[in-house]
Amino acid sequence: MCGIVGYIGRRDATGVLIQGLKRLEYRGYDSFGLATVGSAIEVYKKVGRISDGEAGATGLAGYAGIGHTRWATHGEPNDINAHPHTDCTGRIALVHNGVIENYSELKRQLEGRGHVFRSETDTEVIAHLIEEQYDGDLLAAVSAILPRLEGSYAVLVIAADTQKIVAARNASPLVLGVGDAEVFAASDMTPLLEYTERVVYLEDGDVADITPDRYTIYYDGREVERPIELISWCVEDTRKGGFAHYMLKEIFEQPQSFYETIRAGIDDHVRQMVMEADEITLVACGTSYHTALVFKYLAEPLCNLPIRVEMGSEFKYFTPPLHGLVIAVSQSGETADTIAALKMAKARNCPTLAITNVQGSTVTRIADETLLMRAGPEIGVAATKSYTAQLAALMQIVNARCDDAFDDVLSHAHLAISEVLIREIREAVALCAKAEHVFFVGRGPFYPVSMEGALKMKEISYVHAEGYAAGELKHGPFALLTPETPVVAICTPGPTYSVMASNIKEMKARRAPVIALGVDGDKELAEIVDIFIPIPNTHLLVQILTISVTLQLLAYHTACALQRDVDKPRNLAKSVTVE
Ligand code: AGP
Repeated sequence: MCGIVGYIGRRDATGVLIQGLKRLEYRGYDSFGLATVGSAIEVYKKVGRISDGEAGATGLAGYAGIGHTRWATHGEPNDINAHPHTDCTGRIALVHNGVIENYSELKRQLEGRGHVFRSETDTEVIAHLIEEQYDGDLLAAVSAILPRLEGSYAVLVIAADTQKIVAARNASPLVLGVGDAEVFAASDMTPLLEYTERVVYLEDGDVADITPDRYTIYYDGREVERPIELISWCVEDTRKGGFAHYMLKEIFEQPQSFYETIRAGIDDHVRQMVMEADEITLVACGTSYHTALVFKYLAEPLCNLPIRVEMGSEFKYFTPPLHGLVIAVSQSGETADTIAALKMAKARNCPTLAITNVQGSTVTRIADETLLMRAGPEIGVAATKSYTAQLAALMQIVNARCDDAFDDVLSHAHLAISEVLIREIREAVALCAKAEHVFFVGRGPFYPVSMEGALKMKEISYVHAEGYAAGELKHGPFALLTPETPVVAICTPGPTYSVMASNIKEMKARRAPVIALGVDGDKELAEIVDIFIPIPNTHLLVQILTISVTLQLLAYHTACALQRDVDKPRNLAKSVTVE
């Protein structure tokens, strides 16, 4: 998703902006750009990677500027559609994250008044609207046009001969970093970490007037105070630390991130909220949706509690009747589909809980309570440590509802995660790397675990994969089984072991190669499959974790074997802030 950065202070703005944009690369982008304000506005923007084009930006002068990484929504990726966008005169420049829903009508009106557009983007209309209002007071001009915008925006605006940045936020994240005679702005805190730990989260409707020595925030035309908060992350957390990819580093961080999340526990307000719930609805997207499904399988029988899991993208348009606690699960805390669902739950007076990895993110500002995961910044686009940290948070809810019966299991689970990080899976990687299609199958909680394994495989290796309830494969998908279509089957001791073993034999009868994940020492299973990957024979909660981590590694190594861009897979963004 688009990322924006801004800087004003005593440093050369270009250097700060380029570095900041690099910190936002993990969000996914197809082009980038920046603009600085000296005596005039200077703009440089290019399609492609920052590392390929940054040399062209070194000539920009000025101690204030704005930058942008674009993830195209309106208009193809090219130099003209890249941000920043300017008005007709070139005296105003801005960058934008979000979608202006009514841009077509605005553009038609502006063209009717003689404005000339250069790009196909929705964003450019904002620059021309400001142009019509600007008479030297940039704050007034920006404030005057915001009510005409429908949709989401985080915008940073600069103007020639004005040493200030005006920022505005509505439904897209924007955070200020407060330094010593310098102020930063960014879509999230990662570009700020090396400069300051003091941040201010803007709220929807806020407009900020920013100069090197101060920032003033307005809401509905009146000055407001927003608290300065301290970031708990450090810049080292956002570096690869010697790993080949962020994704691999984050996979290997899981023992610690799981342990930290368990150790942080759940505070009394959250505990009371989950104890009082007579029904729980979880809403999430992508990996977070899979985490929520795993929780459903675990919590319903153990807590004797009705639990429903809804996709964020469906929830807004096909809203189920809501009773009881609504939990939004989101690593970034900025996923538009999940936020929309959470707002609907609030509007229906449901108690709401956010489970997220990002302090100060939008979901934390909407939900009644927040349960923070302690995974640290997750830079790789593919969710890994955030998935197991979400499980840690959700398993604590199960634990609380079960009189803390799993304290011991959860306090040692990270050790089992450590053990599977170094297990041998090369043969399985080779089989998946040469396949066009892979099935992942399981029963009970291992069904959503299979869905997550399939998502990891397809989103970073580009090998098509489907996660399926094992019992469903014979109801149609068997038609797709061939000797070239591997099946990854999860088969561990429990009520479904024998029926799972039978399913595997049915797949083998159709000559599909089967990679089975089972517990250490299961010779019977090892003998009926092509590849056997053992995991520690532990508690169900821990099996879910160790198998999930193994499937993350399977996807990672398959992607490496296929020489994919593991940390920035094509077409994807780390945080999907549009519907
Ligand atoms: C998973 O690897 C993807 N990055 C994606 O499915 C992600 O889980 C989804 O977009 C939800 O993101 P969130 O947890 O930040 O809300």
